[in-house]
Amino acid sequence: MTQPGILDGAPTGARPGTPAGALIDAASDLAFGQVVGLRLDAQEHRDLAAIAQRLAAQPPGLVDDARWLAAARDLSAELPLRLRQCLRRFATDAGAEAMLLLRNLPVAADKLPDTPSHADSVQRGSTVPASVLTLIALSLGEPVAFREEKSGALVQDVVPVPGMETFPGNAGSVPLSAHVENAFHPHRPDIVGLCCLRSDHDNRAGLQVASIRRALAHLTEEARSVLGEARFRTAAPASFGPLGTTAPAHPVLAGDPADPDLIVDFESTAPVDEAAAAALRELAAALHAVRRTVVLAPGDLALVDNRLATHGRTAFAARYDGRDRWLQRVFIHRDFRRSRALRPGGGHVLTSRPGD
Ligand SMILES: [Fe+2]
Repeated sequence: MTQPGILDGAPTGARPGTPAGALIDAASDLAFGQVVGLRLDAQEHRDLAAIAQRLAAQPPGLVDDARWLAAARDLSAELPLRLRQCLRRFATDAGAEAMLLLRNLPVAADKLPDTPSHADSVQRGSTVPASVLTLIALSLGEPVAFREEKSGALVQDVVPVPGMETFPGNAGSVPLSAHVENAFHPHRPDIVGLCCLRSDHDNRAGLQVASIRRALAHLTEEARSVLGEARFRTAAPASFGPLGTTAPAHPVLAGDPADPDLIVDFESTAPVDEAAAAALRELAAALHAVRRTVVLAPGDLALVDNRLATHGRTAFAARYDGRDRWLQRVFIHRDFRRSRALRPGGGHVLTSRPGD
């Protein structure tokens, strides 16, 4: 039975930027601001925990194993109804904020080991949090990873790493600038999931999400026009190694000018001329003006539509005492087949060039 006011929202996709159904009355419930969200109730929490525990026990107990993923795919059909409805709506139309915030997920926060503290930390074992994240990813599409990043693991730890405080990536703790995940890659994720297992000590680290659907109105016609032209180049992160030729020129706003996709990483997207540089600065200011900041709590999962929004993070202080901030991350493709040429053997790990 649908709860009044939870799923009976505005029609989905009435026009670009319309929230994907007001899944909750945000202002009166969770103070999400305008972010669309769903907090699992106690029964849904228990039901999801039971499914995740069943999945965690499936052989061989390894997230990246095809048999385990097959079991997860089947079990994802058993998620609580309201959660499945919510995910289905988000998959079709991510709304004006291009973000869905799920709360009160069972991540066994009281049973967690110490927060890992090395740069390449990933979650290979089928823990309950990794099972929850995989179940939700498989409700939206297929989880994917990049071979050159985090050893191609599907569930990756996002933790502060000693000595890497100023690193412009997931291991850092200084502000992380706004970016579309793997913006350089032809098959960048469609959706990025960030699940909070443990908050930072001071509850300061804010996930910042900025949607082009809201920023578009802040841009001049001139900037929109320039951003829609192939006058930008986005370099791959150093971790991907030399990819041969110079990055190809691409538009930052692609597709329907009234509801474009966004392809930008403010650390690594470079304009090719001065007009493009001015348009990029204007875009940065527009995205900054509309950004939403969410301090994730344990059991929160932020799903960001990586085609429509940038994400970044405010600064926080790491202590490296085993109780630092710990997120687990997953990348999702809605259309798995589309990237087949860059997935050797049909697996879930992407390369950067055919034949690699
Ligand atoms: Fe990111």
